[in-house]
Amino acid sequence: MAIELLPLPLPASADASKFNDFGREVKGVSPGTLSEEELEQVKEALYKHDVLLFRNADFTPEQQYALTKAFDPQSESYGHGNNKTESTKKSILHPDLKTIPRVPQVQLIGNGTVYNHEGLAEAKLKHPSHTTFHKTRVSPEDEAKGYTRFYRWHIDAALYDLSPPKVTTLYGLEVPKGEPQTVRYDDGTGDELHVPLGTTAFVSGRTMFDILPIELKSLAVRSRVKYSPHPYVWMAPAHAMSTGLGIESEGLELPLDELPPWEESRVKIFPLTWKNPVTGALHFQVHPCGVSELLVAPLPEGAKREGALFPDGAHLTNLKEVRELLYKMQRPAIAPQLIYPHDWHEKDLVLFHNRGVLHTVVGAFTPDQVRAFHQCNLAASSDPVGPSEDDVKKWA
Ligand SMILES: [Fe+2]
Repeated sequence: MAIELLPLPLPASADASKFNDFGREVKGVSPGTLSEEELEQVKEALYKHDVLLFRNADFTPEQQYALTKAFDPQSESYGHGNNKTESTKKSILHPDLKTIPRVPQVQLIGNGTVYNHEGLAEAKLKHPSHTTFHKTRVSPEDEAKGYTRFYRWHIDAALYDLSPPKVTTLYGLEVPKGEPQTVRYDDGTGDELHVPLGTTAFVSGRTMFDILPIELKSLAVRSRVKYSPHPYVWMAPAHAMSTGLGIESEGLELPLDELPPWEESRVKIFPLTWKNPVTGALHFQVHPCGVSELLVAPLPEGAKREGALFPDGAHLTNLKEVRELLYKMQRPAIAPQLIYPHDWHEKDLVLFHNRGVLHTVVGAFTPDQVRAFHQCNLAASSDPVGPSEDDVKKWA
């Protein structure tokens, strides 16, 4: 049976012209029992459209693991590793994750207390809030009026040792109803975005690249980013920006010799743009929080030097400078009209191309608003591929 693909309903805030290829609802098939042919169609659709939604899905943790693994059959462990060892306890990710005992690659995430859930007698879940992560916060009075923030724009990835997962699957089991909220950027632009309560917000990495001016496109295709060892431990004492798009440079990161043991050979250096395996498009894929250095290659032979940034290449190690440059490249793509905030319903299954989008948790729940989701992604069997020589020639 052929799968049917329908456009995702966009909010009034979205610029529809920027979402022609982005997001599809998949109909006519059941995601837990796809035939091989249907699976191939779903895989191709994911890379073409970046976010896929199945509504009213019945989907066990075993089926979720199987579907996630089908995108990368050699992948095995959860995207951040299966074992929560001593060394990761200090990580800012640790409190957010509860593993399904039967299928340790699938995590229970959400808010409130969940009882007798897939072998977990009692799980206390906490929806991450900007109030514990950003340098500044929305005042309690404004929170009561429904104002909130993006929590942290990111790619699901350990960014150390393991390779970024190709796909993340998110399945909503319990979705509390509540009033919509308003995200404030609080960065002096006045930007705001009205969102459903507890939305997951997505932006396209492809659009992030496409809307860059030519000198930044040239920089993007010539650059690689080096992530800190154990980035989530490294950044734990630091505070995020009010847009959730990176860290304030206050010198609060843990010194490298205070991190859990690490090896240079496991440190990750990734191209800024990742090549889509189906469309060939370049997606600007940087997890701004974990970045520590930027490596820029010189312009290729024959490229115009006029107006080019770092025409002879550069190795930027000043954290503030690196972050400011990346922020300048990424901020335009999180403008309100470029965001798809998913309006969750129970039994929604969302698959997203983790190597093609950035996403963030949004908003705040009260403790009695119980939310239960299953999340799965698998550390990939290989690192993402950057721009080809032709891409560099075209854009540099
Ligand atoms: Fe995530």
